Amino acid sequence: MEIPIQTICCIGAGYVGGPTMTMMASKCPDLIFNVVDINEKRIALWNNEDLSKLPVFEPGLQELIVKTRNKNLFFSTNLKEAIKSADIIFISVNTPTKTKGLGAGKSSDLKWVEASAREVARYATGYTIVVEKSTLPVRTAEVIVNILNSAKTNSKREEIRFDVLSNPEFLAEGTAIKDLDNPDRVLIGGENKNAMIELSNIYKAWVPEEKILFTNIWSSELAKLTSNAFLAQRISSINSISAICEVTGADIREVSRAIGKDSRIGSKFLDSGPGFGGSCFKKDILNLVYLAEYFGLTEVANFWESVVQINTWHQERISEIIVKKLFGTVTNKKLVILGFAFKANTNDTRESAAINICKDLLNEGANLVIHDPKVTESQIENDLNKNDTKSLDNDDCSCDEKSGCWEYSKFIYNHEIFNNAHAIIILTEWEEFRRLNWKLISKKMVPPAWVFDSRSIVNTEEVKDAGLNLWRIGSGLED
Ligand SMILES: NC(=O)c1ccc[n+]([C@@H]2O[C@H](COP(=O)([O-])OP(=O)(O)OC[C@H]3O[C@@H](n4cnc5c(N)ncnc54)[C@H](O)[C@@H]3O)[C@@H](O)[C@H]2O)c1
Repeated sequence: MEIPIQTICCIGAGYVGGPTMTMMASKCPDLIFNVVDINEKRIALWNNEDLSKLPVFEPGLQELIVKTRNKNLFFSTNLKEAIKSADIIFISVNTPTKTKGLGAGKSSDLKWVEASAREVARYATGYTIVVEKSTLPVRTAEVIVNILNSAKTNSKREEIRFDVLSNPEFLAEGTAIKDLDNPDRVLIGGENKNAMIELSNIYKAWVPEEKILFTNIWSSELAKLTSNAFLAQRISSINSISAICEVTGADIREVSRAIGKDSRIGSKFLDSGPGFGGSCFKKDILNLVYLAEYFGLTEVANFWESVVQINTWHQERISEIIVKKLFGTVTNKKLVILGFAFKANTNDTRESAAINICKDLLNEGANLVIHDPKVTESQIENDLNKNDTKSLDNDDCSCDEKSGCWEYSKFIYNHEIFNNAHAIIILTEWEEFRRLNWKLISKKMVPPAWVFDSRSIVNTEEVKDAGLNLWRIGSGLED
């Protein structure tokens, strides 16, 4: 049975729900997209006239918002109306790792998914296709089906029917719009072929049919976890080799280039850095670990857990190197942190390597000045947790000796933030950090001053010519 699709609802207006629905709305001008969220502040930002205030920063997103917002794309907190009118409902809420109870530290907390499913059961009308867009543990669709099926009628006692599909999102933050516009594949898992075709019809507006894959629902859920686990494993692999490069005299960039030429390996995801971050990699691997442990596959669980463990070790390793190079102590020393987002072109800091590295350095007594082009001061404050670390502006900070404090700097263009700094630590590969005036910066710093480049983005000659010491990730010879 084919149904004409007119109205789409997306529950969750985050880094996935917002950009994904914006892309769909731009490609399907005849359909209506209602993106709803319980977070009023977030919705207000999506509706803000000033596009620089959108809650998600992604290159190309603002242009698409201009094209679609309040035309066929609407952001609101009115879940009830959006669910009631929807033919298809995407669930795109957060699924972080559980912090307490059964499976704490590994399995996903499904409370937001469950709450969404209950809202759907309460307000849906007639026949509705419910789509898991969030990344979920394998067999979560069963939970959603159970909740939906237990409500044979909605709050008005009208008969309701559902099909549940899995349609995981593979976008990468920082390139979300490009990825959504030209996805490698669209994966649709389900049992009811008609429902799968209905969903695929939306994507067919711009995605070639051969890129739309149909699978069973469990394969779709597992494919998403596996995809993230493989990507994270590649980062951990290359980062582990960077440590070997540093002690042997090999150079990680040369090693990456050489192995990337092998067509069986390929060149992507071979840049060594400060360790993977973002909201997904760690949580999705831990989910896989939990699944393997649950089914008694201890060796499989250990294999994947080591990918996370080596990532943590790698971040600690970088903090230790910084302290060692600065004569074994950073107490009372001013260090400039360039970049706080987990990667360039996003304002997302979830699981950013910068959080752990900054915390380590603050614990060692360093005074940090932190700059990121898109991350706000309040976000950094949230991440560094006011209670464990001290802000220089904070009255609680008895900074007579000014040790273990941090401050935020919105700008770097006047170079003032480098005054009296002992070191500059580059943690995010923002384009503007590639073009710094090292000669000018060097004059403002305390000699012998250091540059720690965890992203391999600086021009090594220029840094050296400016009289600065340079440490680069995976470089065996002093640069
Ligand atoms: N961020 C990524 O790069 C990425 C990529 C692919 C998949 N995913 C997956 O997509 C899902 C969403 O990720 P995200 O980064 O967009 O998360 P997010 O935290 O940015 O957004 C989730 C939103 O859901 C809202 N929400 C929670 N419960 C709700 C409810 N009951 N009703 C209405 N709104 C509710 C929250 O307020 C929040 O705004 C996760 O499962 C994640 O693993 C994320």
